[in-house]
Amino acid sequence: MSDVIVEAKKDAGYRAADMVKDGMVVGLGTGSTVFFAMERLGERIKSENLKIYGVPTSNQTEMRAEEYGILLTTLSLHPILDLAIDGADQVTPSKQMIKGRGAALLREKVVASSAKQFVVVIDSAKEVEELNAAVPIEILPFAYGSVCKKLKDLGGEPVMRNGVKKDGPVISDNGNYIFDCAFGKVENPEALESAISEIPGVLENGIFAKMTEKTVVIVGGRK
Ligand code: A5P
Repeated sequence: MSDVIVEAKKDAGYRAADMVKDGMVVGLGTGSTVFFAMERLGERIKSENLKIYGVPTSNQTEMRAEEYGILLTTLSLHPILDLAIDGADQVTPSKQMIKGRGAALLREKVVASSAKQFVVVIDSAKEVEELNAAVPIEILPFAYGSVCKKLKDLGGEPVMRNGVKKDGPVISDNGNYIFDCAFGKVENPEALESAISEIPGVLENGIFAKMTEKTVVIVGGRK
């Protein structure tokens, strides 16, 4: 990753962290850009005595929060979050997006849906006119055969995500498989998001097309 991209991610993450106010409960997404936001939150907790709680979207984020001294809570105790901060893989001008490179999309969508405001932190390489990346989909292992058949019926090309330092399928933090399903250019993101989610055995998909009203996009390196 180039230094310019890293600096842009840091800028986006830090600006999002500076939107957090004392007493807030904050959804903590997953990925390299959010980790900069968490680094800055850790600094603010120490320097300003900022008092916040976070709800993590992955095991990795939970561990990072512990490192940065961010206290954690649950959606049972706090079903409504003041703000959620998360990264994305593709974002359109209308703030629809594809997420899930890190296989955390299921908890990410639950957390984003529970937040009053969804702050998306990206570098400019993530900006696209139209969504066209393969859509990450979390699938119940028992059901993957029938789900893949139905995804093909929808015009998709599902490919199982395999481990890098592990043979065989990536297992999500929730114990499920992740498939990446190419649909080419996504003409109607809302309709495709709904159609995939309706398939029995799909836990969630990485199209986030229905939260645009409460979404703020911060592009690092640009005011
Ligand atoms: C995690 O599953 C993803 O949705 C990430 O939020 C997304 O891939 C952005 O990651 P980076 O901030 O590392 O680019």
